[in-house]
Amino acid sequence: MKTPHPTRGARTIAFISGKGGVGKSNISLNFSLELIRRNKKVVLFDLDVGMGNINILLGLQPKNTIVDLFNEQLSIIETIEKGPEGLAYIAGGTGLSRFLEMKQADKDFFYEQFELLTEMYDYIIFDMGAGITETSLFFILAADECMVVTTGEPTAITDAYSMIKQITSNGGTMPIHLILNRARSQGESTTLKQLQKVIRQFLQIEVYPLGLIPEDKHVVQAVIRQIPYSIFNEKAPAARSIKQITESYLHNETDITLTDKPAFLKKIKNLLRGKL
Ligand SMILES: Nc1ncnc2c1ncn2[C@@H]1O[C@H](COP(=O)(O)OP(=O)(O)O)[C@@H](O)[C@H]1O
Ligand SMILES: [Mg+2]
Repeated sequence: MKTPHPTRGARTIAFISGKGGVGKSNISLNFSLELIRRNKKVVLFDLDVGMGNINILLGLQPKNTIVDLFNEQLSIIETIEKGPEGLAYIAGGTGLSRFLEMKQADKDFFYEQFELLTEMYDYIIFDMGAGITETSLFFILAADECMVVTTGEPTAITDAYSMIKQITSNGGTMPIHLILNRARSQGESTTLKQLQKVIRQFLQIEVYPLGLIPEDKHVVQAVIRQIPYSIFNEKAPAARSIKQITESYLHNETDITLTDKPAFLKKIKNLLRGKL
């Protein structure tokens, strides 16, 4: 086991979207790799229950999933798999959707395991499924920050808006960032600004556009080869953009969130007791 991170504990970031297939898994994976390249300790948590595919994007077969935490009484450390460049990831499992019904003893164990994770890593990245389920809402509301991924399609934009509305109406107050994937021109940054304006006007909250990732054929090739696109071709337009997005995220990080102790743990505790 690694020495616990001595300072503030991990920051948790949930990658979410209203519409499916917009690029969350690819973005959360390559964002995680970019953080690692900047000497951050990262664990990527595949929480797309039933449709998890981080392992497919990595061409790896996980030995354990998070569900084994309860079924096999494994510690969270035993569920961590190793990916490229020292990436740690945890595969989700289909049984996770029932986890909110678990017994108090299991909830306490789950909490302790997450506490351990926040001590070991600088970042815990959640790759969520599209839309909101009861279980995904739990993890989204517990997260310190959300990255909402959309494409420029009106349907994806509308669904991103609905997603943010659902988070706020369920009491979520974490900073929310926007990423527009599969952009066909730089002009699509206007779409993000418009979405930001609509959210400000109708939901009375501020969200932060982080940037665009272009439509890039290297992404499709990398997915087929089962290699993260920032490893497959670091000069590819999408790889360059994810690098910029990570840099801009890290640059603005302290401006947006200033937590000393992981608020995440406090929120998990409250959510497990059924209140936020
Ligand atoms: N920037 C991009 N350029 C081209 N194709 C992309 C891009 N991002 C994603 N894709 C395509 O979209 C598919 C779905 O991406 P994925 O990350 O699995 O989405 P999600 O996790 O949101 O369901 C990928 O397999 C790839 O074919
Ligand atoms: Mg996905």
